[in-house]
Amino acid sequence: MAGEMSMIGSVILALLLAGYLGQQYLPPPKPKVIGLDLGTTFCSVGVFHPGSGEVEVIVDKEGRKSIPSAVTFTHTAVLAGQEAVELSDNNPQNTIYDAKRFIGKLFEPGVLEQESARYPFKVINNNGSAEFVISTNHTFTVSPEFIGSRLLLKMKKMAEQQLGVLIQKAVISVPAEFDERQRNYTVRAANLAGLEILRVINEPTAAAMAYGLHKVDVYNVLVVDLGGGTLDVSLLNKQGGMFLTRAMAGNNKLGGQDFSQRLLQYCMERVRQEFGVTPTLKEDIHRLRQAVEAAKLNLTLRPNATITVPLRLQEPPKGPSPVLLRAVVTRQLFEELNEDLFQKILAPVKTVLAEGHLEKDDVDEIVLVGGSTRIPRIRELISLYFRKEPNTSVDPDLAVVTGVAIQAGIMGGSWPLQVSAIEIPNRHLRKTNFS
Ligand SMILES: *[C@@H]1O[C@H](CO)[C@@H](O)[C@H](O)[C@H]1NC(C)=O
Ligand SMILES: *[C@@H]1O[C@H](CO)[C@@H](O)[C@H](O)[C@H]1NC(C)=O
Ligand SMILES: *[C@@H]1O[C@H](CO)[C@@H](O)[C@H](O)[C@H]1NC(C)=O
Ligand SMILES: *[C@@H]1O[C@H](CO)[C@@H](O)[C@H](O)[C@H]1NC(C)=O
Ligand SMILES: *[C@@H]1O[C@H](CO)[C@@H](O)[C@H](O)[C@H]1NC(C)=O
Ligand SMILES: *[C@@H]1O[C@H](CO)[C@@H](O)[C@H](O)[C@H]1NC(C)=O
Repeated sequence: MAGEMSMIGSVILALLLAGYLGQQYLPPPKPKVIGLDLGTTFCSVGVFHPGSGEVEVIVDKEGRKSIPSAVTFTHTAVLAGQEAVELSDNNPQNTIYDAKRFIGKLFEPGVLEQESARYPFKVINNNGSAEFVISTNHTFTVSPEFIGSRLLLKMKKMAEQQLGVLIQKAVISVPAEFDERQRNYTVRAANLAGLEILRVINEPTAAAMAYGLHKVDVYNVLVVDLGGGTLDVSLLNKQGGMFLTRAMAGNNKLGGQDFSQRLLQYCMERVRQEFGVTPTLKEDIHRLRQAVEAAKLNLTLRPNATITVPLRLQEPPKGPSPVLLRAVVTRQLFEELNEDLFQKILAPVKTVLAEGHLEKDDVDEIVLVGGSTRIPRIRELISLYFRKEPNTSVDPDLAVVTGVAIQAGIMGGSWPLQVSAIEIPNRHLRKTNFS
């Protein structure tokens, strides 16, 4: 009898153990909510894996973790991302980029006409809203949110392909300065792509989450986002576990493009000195620009880079027309060429501290976002100013999508913490702009 009991006990135990082990070996549930970073120049999509507790940024067929924010229209198709960029040289007037700058915004008469002049495509004012004019075999207009929807649809499909499940829900990030209308139109773009948006979060909050700052004891977080063309500085304050944006400032005419431009001017001057001609051919300038961009990237990792560019240089006063520019550029030279621009980064930093009534020592963590924050001198200036190291371990191009994916994981219920709200809406907050 006792033997029988113990046998039954063993069977139960074995079943329990099998169940437990089975659960261990069962694949963890697939993420159902995706995190979207709809950027001005690049977009990314990420998911939070409850099993491993890690964020996966979805890659495209070529293994890239972001897609260019461009959409092109042809007679037969609408293409988004890399495919749009590949066709853009032959179809510039029908390839729309920078749509985020227009989404949900109301414009005064005349403003959009000026904007239009800066782009190869046509932007018109339809009762205050921007619309893009497309001319394939017929002419029609599309809205900024339609452009957004095509990018979001592309990322939704990338995620579905990678995960092998249908995705219908998402969390999306927007700039902290977006007003309610801009947020609504961003949500509308997602709805057009067949996605229900569970939450809209501010980009700086997302970046702070990428560093796990929602889980640790910090009060004041400064987020510096320096991209290709704009600088955004946000001061976040954590209250009762939720982030509140305390102050915002920035410079909408400062970024990586400006640093490249200084190096380009230097190279043009070198050509003039060596060959007696300043390059004016479009093709020469295009080549120089590409070489300068590559050199700039190399200089973040190495003390020097060699720029080698064949140039056609029409109308040579001396020597043969085709020449070869060969210039060794040191990091020190690059820094000297840009020091005044780098210094400008501190102006909005000081403004947000003043508006938040904080001293620089009150800032607990500094988070760097955007590709240009990889530049060593910029990191140095910020750490010298605060006398502490900024948080840089997350790829600055992926910090926002990483945080949005974490928020998506929270919304998907796959987070051990039973919190879903992570920020307090920032109403009536104005952004100070230097430029
Ligand atoms: C434009 O071309 C496409 C594909 O060739 C065709 O389906 C469509 O009907 C055409 N539209 C007009 C207005 O001609
Ligand atoms: C134009 O916009 C105003 C306010 O935004 C609105 O009241 C009006 O109905 C709109 N007109 C048209 C034709 O869409
Ligand atoms: C934004 O959307 C919400 C909910 O749909 C609506 O109540 C609100 O009026 C909208 N606000 C603006 C400025 O469009
Ligand atoms: C460039 O850097 C390398 C080390 O990476 C160094 O050996 C070389 O001397 C440098 N050249 C110049 C011109 O500074
Ligand atoms: C940048 O580095 C890569 C890899 O080391 C090298 O192939 C390339 O020539 C470098 N470019 C410049 C402009 O220094
Ligand atoms: C970055 O943030 C984490 C919080 O997740 C913190 O523990 C760490 O010290 C920070 N690193 C730096 C270099 O400040």
